[in-house]
Parts: sequence; structure tokens; C-alpha cells
Amino acid sequence: MPFNTEQLRREFPALQQEVNNKPLIYFDNAATTQKPKAVIERILQYYSRENSNIHRGAHFLSQQATDAYEDARQTVQLFINAAFTHEIIFTRGTTESINLVAYSFFKKFVKKGDEILISAMEHHSNIVPWQIACEDYGAILKIIPMDERGVLDLEAYKSLLSDKTKMVAVTHVSNALGTINPVKEITQLAHEMGAAVLIDGAQAMSHLKVNVQDIGCDFYCFSGHKLYGPMGVGVLYGREELLNQLPPYQGGGEMIKEVTFEKTTYNELPFKFEAGTPNVGDVLGLEAAIRFVSYLRLDEIALHEQRLLNYATSQLQTLENIRFFGTAPEKTSVVSFLFTDIHPYDTGTILDKMGIAVRTGHHCAQPIMDFFGIPGTIRVSLAVYNSRSEIDQLIIALKKVREMFV
Ligand SMILES: Cc1ncc(COP(=O)(O)O)c(C=O)c1O
Repeated sequence: MPFNTEQLRREFPALQQEVNNKPLIYFDNAATTQKPKAVIERILQYYSRENSNIHRGAHFLSQQATDAYEDARQTVQLFINAAFTHEIIFTRGTTESINLVAYSFFKKFVKKGDEILISAMEHHSNIVPWQIACEDYGAILKIIPMDERGVLDLEAYKSLLSDKTKMVAVTHVSNALGTINPVKEITQLAHEMGAAVLIDGAQAMSHLKVNVQDIGCDFYCFSGHKLYGPMGVGVLYGREELLNQLPPYQGGGEMIKEVTFEKTTYNELPFKFEAGTPNVGDVLGLEAAIRFVSYLRLDEIALHEQRLLNYATSQLQTLENIRFFGTAPEKTSVVSFLFTDIHPYDTGTILDKMGIAVRTGHHCAQPIMDFFGIPGTIRVSLAVYNSRSEIDQLIIALKKVREMFV
């Protein structure tokens, strides 16, 4: 059954406002999604009634907060079908999750001359941590190429893999192009060569049902705020066997078993990787977000978004001098485009005046823009609460932009 978008939108307070005296149309969901009341109220409740530091206190509030935090870990485990609860590490987000793995994995496994493979469509978060580590250890960063549609070249990938490859780090879904990558196949091929695999799931979680055991990857990363949850919280999933071998990323409270000035022993998983007081309130907000999308059902969300994507694409195609970026057969609800005769910032600014929020620029994926020889695109990224009538408004607004500039 199609969503009752009108009813669903009432759950999102931020969508009820006007921007520049126009009802807000929010199409910047790949940057961050708006938050449902269930998430906002969960955080409010935590700070109003449950706030306490966890894992250390014998008192009621501390015990209650500890239980809630550990229950949230289990909710994440079930959501992505991890084998064990202790394979779920809470972090600040995808960026921190990738940095954690790059740091700890290199320290344990990588030496001079080893190779790391990433793809041509990575977000800066899945480029720079590997660059930094490669520089420190004398390792080599290699790039899996893509074609003009934004589809990875798997034959080239196979030829890049060798016994020197220690890690393959690839995005599940491209934030700039929407491409869904064949991460299961990519993982299998890497494992045949003995390389570990990290999947950047930042753009996948709100659109696809993710099953980390089915994918078979060693690490999977995502952020709460792109999944209708709060900012400042995210997840690193890691396979137990590998996580146990990795050294800690940060030192401090929580991650230790015993400390003397001579020697410290580390805590077991997952605490070894969660130094310091965790972000309990936002972890509980993330749990509420997972419950929210689970209630709506990810397959239903995906269906709604695919219909919107098809509609938006067909409507945009009727406009003159429009060029699309990211036309892979398998993609999520992201449309990146440019008018060849109007600067993207001009388009974005005029749309904003009409209450329509889109993103213009390189979307933290400058190598993709270099590949296409452009400074940036206009990105419309759709979420569960968007509607066909909002797309109609966008088309009317874009026609006005064309009238003004051409
Ligand atoms: C594909 C991808 N990876 C990583 C990130 C970084 O996520 P965060 O800033 O939440 O750490 C983003 C954010 O836009 C993204 O789209």
C-alpha cells in the first residue's frame, strides 16, 4: 500500500515550517534526514528522566541507562543481522568508524608496499583516512574505476586485486550519484585474495535492508543522522575475529580492564573500542530511528522512493539543457544534474528563495566531479516523507529559474 505521505509528514516537526515564506520542501536528505517525533522525544525523555553515566554506577539511574544503551546495541545488531551484539561499536558516525578501522587495521596488518583499494566514487570520508594511513606506512592507494553511468568496472577491480591487497573499502551507495554497488560480489572477490573489506553504508541504511552476514564484509559503517536519527552517533560493525585482533583506536575510560603505570590491559569487545563516556542519549535516539524505519518497513520505503525517483527523473527530463550524473541501473533516490547554461549555485539559490532545499556543490566527492570535468551538481535526494506534488513544485521552480537566466 502506498504511504499516506500527508499523515507521515506530521511526524516530522521540521517539515511543518515555512522557509522564505513558502512551505519547506526538503530535498537534501542525503546530507541529513529530518527527525521524527519518536526520535526527538526519546532524546528528550533520556535527558529529562534517565540521564546518567553508564557501566560504572551501582545506582538505579545508571543501571537503567546502561540497560537501555546495551538494548540499543542489540537493536542495531538485529537491524543489520550481525552475528553478535559485541560486533556493534558505537562511534560518532561513518567518518569516525572509517578512521577507527584505518588506524587500527594499518597498525596491525599493513606494511610498506601493501595496497589498499577504494573506488572512484567514494565520499572524502572513505578516501582521506586511507590516504593518511598509506602515507604513514608507505602503502599504496589504488582506485577501482567507474564508467560514465557511475557503475564500477568490476573487470578492472579484479585485475587490481592481488596478494598485496590488504583492504578493499567501497561505498554501498554513492552519495553523489546514487549508484548501488554490488558489495557482496566485491567482498567475495576481495576475500578470495585474502583482503579485508570495509563497506561505507552511510547512504544505504535509510534505503536498503542491510544484512552484514549476507554481504560477508568485515566492517560496515553508518551514521545515525542519515537514518532519521540524531547527529553525532553512528555505528561500526566489525567481525568479531578481526575486531579481536585490532589494537584500540583511542585510550581512556571504559576501554580498559586494568591500568597501572607500568601496563594497561584492554577491555573485551565492544568496550575496547568505546573509550570515554559514550553518547548515550543519541544512541537511544538512533534506536528510536531504527524502530521507526522498521515499523514503516524498509522495502516499503524503498518502493515509495523508487516511484518518486522515476517520477522526478521523467519530469526533469522534460527540461531543456539538463545533464544527468549517475544513471546506473541500480540506484537509490538521488538525482544529480546540471543545467549546461546556468551555474548550479544560481539554481540552488533561487530554489532556496522558493522554499526548496537542494544541495549544490561537490557533495564531498571531488574526485567524482573531476571525473565528469564539472565543479559540482545540483542534487535532489528523496526520502520517505517526500511526495509527487513536491516534485511538481520543483519542476515549476526550475522552469522559473530557466526563465530568469536564459
Ligand atoms: C557515502 C558517504 N560516506 C560517508 C559520509 C560521512 O558521514 P558522516 O559525516 O555522517 O560521518 C557521508 C556523508 O555524507 C556519505 O554520504
